[in-house]
Amino acid sequence: MYEPRDPPYPELKKTHSMAHKGRPWTDYKPPPAAPVWAAIEGLGRYYILLAAIELDVFDTLQATGPATVEHLADHMDLPVDHLRSLLDGVVAEGLLDQFVDIYELNDTAKRYLVSDGPATMADLIAVAPGPHANWTRLADTVRNGRPATPIEDDPVAFYVPLVEGTFTTMFRCATRADLKIRYSALREPRILDLGAGGAPWAIAMLNGCPAGTAVINDLPGVIDVAARKVAEHGVADRCELRPGNFHTIDIEPASYDIVVLGHICRTEGAEGAQSLIARAFDALKPEGRLLLADYFPDRERKFNPHAVIMGTTMMASTEKGFTFTHQQFSEWLYVAGFRQTRLIEPIGFQQTFVARKPR
Ligand SMILES: C[S@@+](CC[C@H](N)C(=O)[O-])C[C@H]1O[C@@H](n2cnc3c(N)ncnc32)[C@H](O)[C@@H]1O
Repeated sequence: MYEPRDPPYPELKKTHSMAHKGRPWTDYKPPPAAPVWAAIEGLGRYYILLAAIELDVFDTLQATGPATVEHLADHMDLPVDHLRSLLDGVVAEGLLDQFVDIYELNDTAKRYLVSDGPATMADLIAVAPGPHANWTRLADTVRNGRPATPIEDDPVAFYVPLVEGTFTTMFRCATRADLKIRYSALREPRILDLGAGGAPWAIAMLNGCPAGTAVINDLPGVIDVAARKVAEHGVADRCELRPGNFHTIDIEPASYDIVVLGHICRTEGAEGAQSLIARAFDALKPEGRLLLADYFPDRERKFNPHAVIMGTTMMASTEKGFTFTHQQFSEWLYVAGFRQTRLIEPIGFQQTFVARKPR
């Protein structure tokens, strides 16, 4: 179809003469629409995965082994054509394999999507983007400078499933962090874990330090998850649960060898994050170390889309949430008094600042 405003490549516009533009074959080529389609399909991609999780597609395939859609539909009591359409969507996303009409788990699904996978994210998928309704009102949130229904309105409802869902990943991260920072070399460390969730950091460190003890903080209601997890991991007798707001709970000064701020700064705004860093500094003994885990964009906020979009996710659903760059955190740590700051990445995409309080 002829479109006078925008002739498709390689048809040339009338103004595209040698005199105006140079040689026609080196002339203007429109950019592809692929990035726009990628954004549009983002919604469908997410809900395809979510539906597959809700329908137990991955766990079912783990139980049946490679199977035809007819066999799976029979097993799952679902209509064949609808299930095939969903499965093909999952295959298109690279999260399942299909050969000659036989569907099977691929390595990604085995690791991250079956509910007992070694690094399962199955429980995280529904909650990771925040309350879904907030995304449909994002333009209003930007206009108003706050979401209509921020997570802070009912933090327990949001954080309980979130910290259940993130536990496996954060526990792996915290356990592997020992390879970088050797917390297990501490004899009787006293650990403070603020906004601990299921307390993956405290539990990993107590596992590595048989004489260590921990104070574990989270909001009333959410701290029940930590209570359950420390009991499951056999370290409850070395933990004190301290429910309350991490900005205001009592914290003993100069008493801790390690303070953990694990993925809690990005909901607090620049002022709140700096205030948490200052609280951590006061709580540490001389030579004590702060571990600050989060998602950090680069200084131009464009080369690490995962951290950048995590920041937008915070903006969409919390009162003050934004992510902050490595440079901002480095400066805040320095201003608070920390030295010997380094950045570790115990597992992929999980970075943690480690900073020491000077003697
Ligand atoms: C993203 S989760 C991180 C959990 C854990 N630290 C980790 O690294 O996996 C944030 C946690 O901070 C807690 N939190 C949020 N605001 C809080 C506050 N004002 N006081 C104490 N805890 C808070 C939430 O309940 C939640 O458990």
